[in-house]
Order: sequence, then C-alpha cells, then structure tokens
Amino acid sequence: MMNLSLAGIYFNQDALADFEKLLMVFSQNDQQVFILADDQTKQYCWPLLEPYFQSIQIKINLITIPHGEENKSLHQLNEIWKRLTKAGAGRDSVLVNLGGGVITDLGGFAAASYKRGIQTIHFPTTLLAMVDAALGGKTGIDFEGFKNQIGAFYQPRNVYILTDFLKTLPEKQWRSGLGELIKYNFITGGNIGQLEPFTKMDDRQIRVAIEKSVRFKMEVVTEDPIEKGRRKILNFGHTIGHAFESLGLARKMDLTHGEAIAAGIVAELFISVKLKGLNQKDLTEYLRYYQSLFDPFMLKETDIENVMDLIVHDKKNRAGKVMMVCLDRSGKAVFDVLVEPEQLKECLSWYSELF
Ligand code: GLY
Repeated sequence: MMNLSLAGIYFNQDALADFEKLLMVFSQNDQQVFILADDQTKQYCWPLLEPYFQSIQIKINLITIPHGEENKSLHQLNEIWKRLTKAGAGRDSVLVNLGGGVITDLGGFAAASYKRGIQTIHFPTTLLAMVDAALGGKTGIDFEGFKNQIGAFYQPRNVYILTDFLKTLPEKQWRSGLGELIKYNFITGGNIGQLEPFTKMDDRQIRVAIEKSVRFKMEVVTEDPIEKGRRKILNFGHTIGHAFESLGLARKMDLTHGEAIAAGIVAELFISVKLKGLNQKDLTEYLRYYQSLFDPFMLKETDIENVMDLIVHDKKNRAGKVMMVCLDRSGKAVFDVLVEPEQLKECLSWYSELF
C-alpha cells in the first residue's frame, strides 16, 4: 500500500497511532481539543476515538450538530463559534472533525475563521469525504440557497482515514461516494466499462479505490492548491451537479451530494459530446450505468430556468459566463470551457426528457 504520510494523510492503524501521539502532545502542551460530530457520527464513530481521549486523560469537548446538508449553515457555524468562545478556546486549540463532507466543510471553516485560524484535523467517516471532501482544504457553508457560497481554502493538519467507519455506512451514502469515484474514474482515464465493479467491491478493492483517488487528488491539489488552474478538473460533474443539489435542497428532495454529481455527470457528458467531440458511446454507456445504480434525478421542464439561475452563480464562472469542465475523452478533462446559455438550455431540456 502506498504511504501518504508526508501529505499528512494516514490510513487505519497508522492513523490511530499518529493521532494518539498528537493527542499526547496536545495534552502535554495544555492545548484544548474540540471534536465536531453530528448525531450519527457521535453514535457510530465517536466510540472508536473516545478511548484514546480517555487513556490520555485529555478533556473531551464534544460539539454535536444534527446531520444533513441543511446544517452546513451559518446557524451551525455560529453555534460552533459560540461553543469555542464559551470554552475559552485559544489560538492553540484544535478542532477535530468527525463526519462526512458537511462536517469537514463546516468544521474546517469554523477552524479557519475562529481567531483567524486554529489547527484542524479531519476524520472523514463517509466514502465521499474519504475520497474527496476531506482532502485539499476546501471549507465552507451553503448560503442563501447556493452551495459552498461562503468559505475558505484552509488545509487540515492531518487527515485520518479509518475504513472501518464504512462498515456502518448506509447504502445511500455508499452511492453518494460512488458519485465522486465515478468523477475520478472519468478524469483519470478509467474505461467507462470498468465502472461496473464499484458495485461489488470487497474491502481490499475499496481501499485501493480510495487510495487511488486520494493519490490523484493530492497530486492535483499540491500543484494547484487554490484552484487557479488544473484543480478545476476536480469539478467535473459539479457545475450542473451542484445546481441539481441546490434545487434538491430547496425542494426538500432526498438527494445526496454524490447522487447529484452522478446526475450532473450525465448532463456534462452531453455537453462534452456537443462541444468537445466526446464519443456518444461514452455518454450512452454511462447513462445505462447511472440508471442501473442510482434512482435517477428527475428534472421537471418547469425547473429548467431555476437550474439555469443556479448555474449562473457557480464559482467557476467568469465575467457572468458559464465555464465548465468537459471531457475530450475519458482521461482528458479540459477546464474553463465556455458554455452558452442556449447550449445549457438544450442540455437541460434533453436531460428533463430522460427520466
Ligand atoms: N471537490 C473538488 C475539490 O476539492 O477541488
């Protein structure tokens, strides 16, 4: 197995051993350690970490919020700031985030903003957070119905990936992680036909898939930490996917981030065929795969304008123009592709007739 320790990313036993060492240092230095969890990770994941705090006799400051994307909010951020302030957290305090992408984004931003930045550590507990959200320092909250509207790039000190957490992951969350793995598969040149085994992976295959994505993401992020260029390719599927996700949130649909991205990939492959000459066969094959694995995200004709508005607010746009990541072919992603409103509309109309 590869060694990612240099990048501050540790797996399983290495992760726990390193975390224990860090806790001892924090304890010796009288640094306060806070843990951010949601109600579910408190129940299923915290019991694995709690003994480390107990054996070192370090005070446990557990902050728990309700689970769900609607809590990646200013309100919950405010609650965390209040807890840190009330406990007298100093600039040497540490915030450990135990959860999926909502927790690592929200906790990462709380850490980035509290007293101009305190140390933060991520324990991603979902497949999606392990392969994407916890890596690379994107932090933030949703605001006024827009995804990740407020935030900062803020690197965690370490990321500890414990694949045991996946044992209690609900099936819907598995599919969500799959959405990001599919993205990596496309941008790293995986054959669309090779996506099939993701559904039947054993523990070893899962770990290999996670490590492959982690390696690729860290290589890209190291080269372009604040997304001036190449990092943009990691947003494949996200321009339209985020708009679907925001619509889903507003409509209170049960749609996870990864499910929205898997649907966004359908639409962005269509645009890639139209604008970049991607082979139609790739789109057809992916569509078949998507329908076999996901409950397809249905877009009503009457929501097309709404989705267009959401896309206009995407952070990847420039000068009011929609800029997207497309594929020339699998493994050849191009960023900053200008998509005209009528091309977007054509794509969304096509999509709305699919399911
Ligand atoms: N989720 C894409 C990125 O971190 O750049």
